[in-house]
Amino acid sequence: MKSGENLILLIHKNEKRLQDLQQKFADHLRIIKVDLTDLSSLQNKFSKVIEETGWQPDRLIHTATKRSHDFKPLADTDPELWKQIVLMNIVGTFNILKCVLPCFRKNKYGKIVLFGSNVTRIGLPKGSAYSASKAGIANIGRTLAAEEAENNIIINTVSPGPIKIDDSQFSESYRKFREEYYNKKIREIPLKRCASFEDIFGLCRFLLSKENSYITGEEFFITGGKI
Ligand SMILES: NC(=O)c1ccc[n+]([C@@H]2O[C@H](COP(=O)([O-])OP(=O)(O)OC[C@H]3O[C@@H](n4cnc5c(N)ncnc54)[C@H](OP(=O)(O)O)[C@@H]3O)[C@@H](O)[C@H]2O)c1
Repeated sequence: MKSGENLILLIHKNEKRLQDLQQKFADHLRIIKVDLTDLSSLQNKFSKVIEETGWQPDRLIHTATKRSHDFKPLADTDPELWKQIVLMNIVGTFNILKCVLPCFRKNKYGKIVLFGSNVTRIGLPKGSAYSASKAGIANIGRTLAAEEAENNIIINTVSPGPIKIDDSQFSESYRKFREEYYNKKIREIPLKRCASFEDIFGLCRFLLSKENSYITGEEFFITGGKI
């Protein structure tokens, strides 16, 4: 965040982990605790913040996701869990876009980055709901780029391969699954490492900046050379 800029941060459950941020940027940060699958709650809370602050949102970065944490093949997956993952990833993306697009349209300016994954082009064994919904997100981006170009709204999807993250919040079994999956994947990556946050956010920064006035509807793979 640059000095003078404002940020509205959407958080699902664990808002405690944002306490430090909140103190540091008190005047420039608002936190909304919300379930992205609930459109009316999202719209109500979002409009309240806009009314109170008078801020004019002009950029969106949408990273929230639900994973296929059962890590089962499609044939063995619980249909209810499959539905929940697609609901969060696809309808959740629809909801956040539905919420911010009116502001962007009003100001005839907006920059959006959605998060896909490299699984949109390689699939994900034992993760069909996640890989299907991530591919859906990239296609929402392509569609919106065409629909909203006349409103000067630019939208792209960033699709990383494995990223080095703090996985302490995951269950023991899911951590083990990720570790095995990542160890195997790293061997296939020409640069022989996972992506860092800087690798990811350098591109996001550019896509969301004023310098980017022509690149829209694209999906960018950040995979260390792995096709
Ligand atoms: N990490 C990787 O290796 C990797 C690789 C490729 C692509 N990506 C993509 O990069 C993005 C960020 O990944 P990450 O590893 O940082 O993900 P993450 O740690 O799993 O974070 C996902 C976030 O989504 C939130 N969320 C889940 N359900 C929600 C709901 N119903 N409403 C609102 N928020 C909800 C979670 O909040 P709660 O925890 O409170 O539910 C969590 O904060 C994701 O889109 C992911 O698909 C990541």
